[in-house]
Amino acid sequence: MYKRGLLLYSGGLDTSVILKMLQEKLGMDVVTLTLDVGQEENDLAAIAEKAWKLGASDVITKNVKNEFAGGYISREIMADGMYDGAYPLSTSIARPLMSLEAVNAADTHDCDVIVHGCTGKGNDQVRFEVSIRALNPDLNVIAPVRDWGLNRDQEMEYASKNGIPVKLGGKYSTDENLWGRSVEGSDLEDPRKPIPADAYAWVTPPDQTPHEAVEFTLQFTAGIPVEINGVRKPLAKIVSDLNGIAGKAGYGAIDHLEDRVTGIKSREFYECPAASVIINAHRSLERMTLSREEAAFKSIIESKWTTMTYDGLWFDPLMDHLNSFLKSVNAYVSGTVSLKLQNGNLFVQGMESPYTLYNYEKSTYGMHDTFNQSYAKGFVELFGMQTVNTNSVRKKAVAEISKSF
Ligand code: ARG
Repeated sequence: MYKRGLLLYSGGLDTSVILKMLQEKLGMDVVTLTLDVGQEENDLAAIAEKAWKLGASDVITKNVKNEFAGGYISREIMADGMYDGAYPLSTSIARPLMSLEAVNAADTHDCDVIVHGCTGKGNDQVRFEVSIRALNPDLNVIAPVRDWGLNRDQEMEYASKNGIPVKLGGKYSTDENLWGRSVEGSDLEDPRKPIPADAYAWVTPPDQTPHEAVEFTLQFTAGIPVEINGVRKPLAKIVSDLNGIAGKAGYGAIDHLEDRVTGIKSREFYECPAASVIINAHRSLERMTLSREEAAFKSIIESKWTTMTYDGLWFDPLMDHLNSFLKSVNAYVSGTVSLKLQNGNLFVQGMESPYTLYNYEKSTYGMHDTFNQSYAKGFVELFGMQTVNTNSVRKKAVAEISKSF
């Protein structure tokens, strides 16, 4: 039926079982693709070895952390992307890059179908399939967990029969990359209960948060962090440094009841220390460097960009237009933000920018004031004229109407 399949392979239970089943059930030749997007388990050599052992006909591994930071995370920072105002899209933002890499690998390895390990309940199936088909409509996509109705017990049984090594202990369903860690399932499924301590991995749980303050600066150029504490580093490195610093300080854990594209409300737990710090710092710097009109209009674009990214529409042409706006509106979002982490909170302590729109002589109540207050009297008169006039007309009308009853 299919010539050769390209499997997005993480090395976990689902995709290992799929790798074997595709060969056994469909007689398919399978090429595996494993990408390092900054997940903790990124021993690409060990994952590759496992794929070879399970019969892969070719094995591809690739470190794409810099591509991820440069082409995806950076755009999200410019957009201040927070789905439902809470979730920094850590899983969502990696999917278009993974889809693009899969499409390219399918092309170079002559595969006519891409296989992924998503279930039928989540957003990721939508993101992969829409992205893959938007990039190459001739490719087929299959999702065996969803399409063949596989469940965990069946997979475990199949794994033990087929000598597939299974790592036990994963109580939750997790997904990790540079931008964050997503946790679902098990004890999190009861929204009446708090997040259990064993769900935390990157962030110090609240009852163990250290009291000592950690202070640092973040420098932005055109909306993108370029230096931490005055040291220039690639964005991927700044993000991984901040995951360490802020996670240890107990900052960046998010308990969220989320609306999925598939209509399901789900309780999700996210650990996104770097994303939370960077987006907060970036938003603060925008307060200083964007005009009122720019900021107000940007919030409309942000919201559109965020839902489209969440919904898996990254390769929709509208995204190019939104990204162009975001790049242009971020041109002056440059400067240094001083931050402090303490007791699990982030404080923006101060900021400065060569393009600051804050004008001390206009703002001050002190002796250096240059604001001409005499202009204000006429301004207030005209500014409120409609409101004052409408109210006075309506008040008279109400009096008249009530007289006639
Ligand atoms: N709900 C999130 C999203 O759709 C995260 C899903 C992560 N997957 C997981 N296996 N925990 O972006």
